[in-house]
Amino acid sequence: MTKFNIAIDGPAGAGKSTIARKVAGELGFVYVDTGAMYRAVTWKVLQDGVNPLDTEAVARTAAGMKIELVPGPDGQLVFVDGRDVSSDIRTKLVTDRVSQIAAIAEVRKLLVDKQKQMAASKGIVMDGRDIGTHVLPDAEVKVFLTASVRKRAERRFQEVQGTAMATTLEEMEKDIARRDMLDEGREVSPLVQAADAVMLDSTDLTIPEVVESILEMCRMRT
Ligand code: C5P
Repeated sequence: MTKFNIAIDGPAGAGKSTIARKVAGELGFVYVDTGAMYRAVTWKVLQDGVNPLDTEAVARTAAGMKIELVPGPDGQLVFVDGRDVSSDIRTKLVTDRVSQIAAIAEVRKLLVDKQKQMAASKGIVMDGRDIGTHVLPDAEVKVFLTASVRKRAERRFQEVQGTAMATTLEEMEKDIARRDMLDEGREVSPLVQAADAVMLDSTDLTIPEVVESILEMCRMRT
């Protein structure tokens, strides 16, 4: 099959990364989790004791660090300046701050440029919040994946059971609603469905059903 790009956007906990990874596996494409890049910058800002409200200092930190995304056995591994931070970027501390860091225009510009470069040779499944609208406006397949807040909280709740990120379902629901609000309300590249994206509501769909719908969209375009 000729290579093309797939953009998968949507709110927190909609299942984007699981779905994107499976679609990439089926097509032999490369999966890129852009949320991990914003998390990596947030981790570095916290690690270096930079004030997250000091946008210039945050932008300098982002510009001075090296982020690498490497395919691993259980998904994508994330390295910052050569150190594996794949699990460090998933902590509550990072999750609580990431939407604030992701709202800084200079940080977005840096990461969006990197993301565009990664997708230049096609064959990429990229998930995030602004992929179909800003990063890859020419992506051949665009999906806006969503689900009810309750369902998204339940899925995340189950995912983090037994890990350091475990919390209550109510806390999870609150966190997801708060991140939705910040991501949808920010000035730069807010979370919004691209006009030409296909909306998929996964509230009552299984993972294989969602994956199949996206593969069908891919078949339709060839
Ligand atoms: O996808 P994930 O939930 O890991 O993303 C973490 C945060 O990174 C999101 O809540 C959002 O604030 C930010 N993000 C973004 N643009 C993207 C991907 C993620 O602003 N393309």
